[in-house]
Amino acid sequence: MDSSLRAWRDTLEDLGVMGFVREPLVQTMAQPPDAAATQPSVAPPARQPASRPVPRSIAPVPTTYVPPSDPSGCPPPESVAAAASLAELHRAIQGCLACPLGPGRLKFVFGEGDPHARLMFVGEGPGRDEDSQGRPFVGKAGELLDKMIGAIGLTRGQTYIANVVKCRPPDNRTPTADEARACLGYLHRQIELIQPAVIVTLGATPLRELVGVSEGITRVRGQWRRVKVGGREIPVMPTFHPAYVLRQYTQDVRRAVWQDLKAAKDWIDRPAGS
Ligand code: URA
Repeated sequence: MDSSLRAWRDTLEDLGVMGFVREPLVQTMAQPPDAAATQPSVAPPARQPASRPVPRSIAPVPTTYVPPSDPSGCPPPESVAAAASLAELHRAIQGCLACPLGPGRLKFVFGEGDPHARLMFVGEGPGRDEDSQGRPFVGKAGELLDKMIGAIGLTRGQTYIANVVKCRPPDNRTPTADEARACLGYLHRQIELIQPAVIVTLGATPLRELVGVSEGITRVRGQWRRVKVGGREIPVMPTFHPAYVLRQYTQDVRRAVWQDLKAAKDWIDRPAGS
């Protein structure tokens, strides 16, 4: 596949459009084509069954997960609870192999931003760019998220950005309930340490896994919800995922997201005590 076609395929995949451009099938010849041309053709070259190339950077994830025999890859819950800072928490969990996503990651995507941010975003999980850079929302959806944050008068660095799962699900699929559950304690501890005034959930997955709301995002976006973490109730504003906004790039969708973020910003700006 030539590089421009591959770049286009990668962009489509970033936007959630899978399988639109197929990898060429690799057919293993019995001998190199040049050698075949110089030798008498007794019979057509034997063909091996066609196989899809496995990208070298992403290890295949087994369908049935076998937990590591060395449990040191799974951080004990006490070390998560005992982490007194985001840096300590990051150190404690970065080698996690508690679910099938761990062995397939390139980089663990902990989250980033102001450790005392009043506004926290929670997305679904890392995609290809995030997996290779180890940072959340750095691909096309991230560019849009940065613009959305700018549109309410903030910078990315004034917020905190994290995901439900810290390792990339293969083919950018939605994390399973088990995968989300295996990672949720880490997100809870992040929230306890950051103590945001408001959480904005991006798309249906964080709304379902963090807040326990399974209604369709189109129906609930823009309506305040609450989540209790570490004994503290935090207002939650559900909005669309930026990748959805990129797919449905209409004025209505963009206006809806802006209204949701503006409501979150107004909440953190409200006078104390009101
Ligand atoms: N989508 C997400 O949900 N999170 C990221 O970090 C990137 C894309």
